[in-house]
Amino acid sequence: MKKLNFGIIGCGRIAYKHAEAIKKNEKANLLYVCDIIEERAVDYKNKYGAERYFTDYHEMLEMPDLDVVNICTPSGMHAEMGIAAAKAGKHVIVEKPMALSSIDADALINACDENGVKLAVCFQNRFNPPVQKLRRALEEGRFGKLTHASAVVRWFRPQDYYDQAPWRGTWAMDGGCLMNQSIHNIDLLQWMMGPVESVFGYTANNFRKIEAEDVGVAVLEFKNGALGVIEASTTIYPENLEETLAIFGEKGTVMLGGIAVNKIETWKFADSQDENLEMEQQDVPNVYGFGHDALIEDFIRAVIEDRRPYIDGREGIKSLRIVLGIYHSAVSL
Ligand SMILES: NC(=O)c1ccc[n+]([C@@H]2O[C@H](COP(=O)([O-])OP(=O)(O)OC[C@H]3O[C@@H](n4cnc5c(N)ncnc54)[C@H](O)[C@@H]3O)[C@@H](O)[C@H]2O)c1
Repeated sequence: MKKLNFGIIGCGRIAYKHAEAIKKNEKANLLYVCDIIEERAVDYKNKYGAERYFTDYHEMLEMPDLDVVNICTPSGMHAEMGIAAAKAGKHVIVEKPMALSSIDADALINACDENGVKLAVCFQNRFNPPVQKLRRALEEGRFGKLTHASAVVRWFRPQDYYDQAPWRGTWAMDGGCLMNQSIHNIDLLQWMMGPVESVFGYTANNFRKIEAEDVGVAVLEFKNGALGVIEASTTIYPENLEETLAIFGEKGTVMLGGIAVNKIETWKFADSQDENLEMEQQDVPNVYGFGHDALIEDFIRAVIEDRRPYIDGREGIKSLRIVLGIYHSAVSL
């Protein structure tokens, strides 16, 4: 079988998860890398054995042997780059959030549809074993009626993190702890609880010298009548504390925790089954976890089998809309 040729745009902090996942996958080949900072592009080319590097992504998109583009640039650039890739006939894997507005996200989805290419959004935590187990329990109806849920991200990002790259924490290119960090858990919350009826939130900026929020809270009502709570922060002293997702139903209680929903803290169901919970626990070296490997494997299969990726654009936009709803609600008039 011919390998799929990948090209990465943006060789910064998260791109290595893409490069490593591509390198590990026998059906994938990392052909090109691109960064406007030449040194970074050269570094990635050498480290991961790519054939060629670019400093202009438009030139990379002209390469006829390029099949898939991984967009790992600042969030405010995702939609424009994804649309350009789709128009060039390339499949698109985009980092989260897929865009910073609903209009841009819709435009990206439409461009991929119109050009017959696949689109996946990197909510890699959906592949975490505890999250997969929780999703199976929901699909099997083990919770009975869902009553409420919470998504909590208590993390720490020092001022240095924001100062490393000027786009971080800006409204035009990033957003704050809700749009950047907590969107992962908001994605999981809505994946488990279903569509949202309404959302109300507050945001604040206490410590970080950025435009956007470093703390945010919200309450939600889901269309099924269940209620939800979101708590997001990047100022938890003195380090990352937890990313937890708790789901409560009439016949079940599950709480996933760890620093990035990688542990099962509580697992109780009325239909208690003989379950080995240890099997699902995961030790992760950082909050990125291991999900990019599974996401890229799924994406390759989606291309080969001509089916939708596990987390396509229509899935990826849901959490974006919730965050935008919170921002809208939190605007003081
Ligand atoms: N899935 C996750 O867990 C996860 C984790 C971290 C970041 N992210 C997302 O990944 C994206 C990148 O974040 P990061 O922390 O790696 O950022 P970063 O600043 O470390 O890297 C971004 C890179 O893009 C390059 N770039 C900027 N403009 C470019 C252009 N026009 N053409 C080519 N390259 C360009 C920059 O030079 C930089 O090297 C963000 O959207 C972020 O939200 C996702």
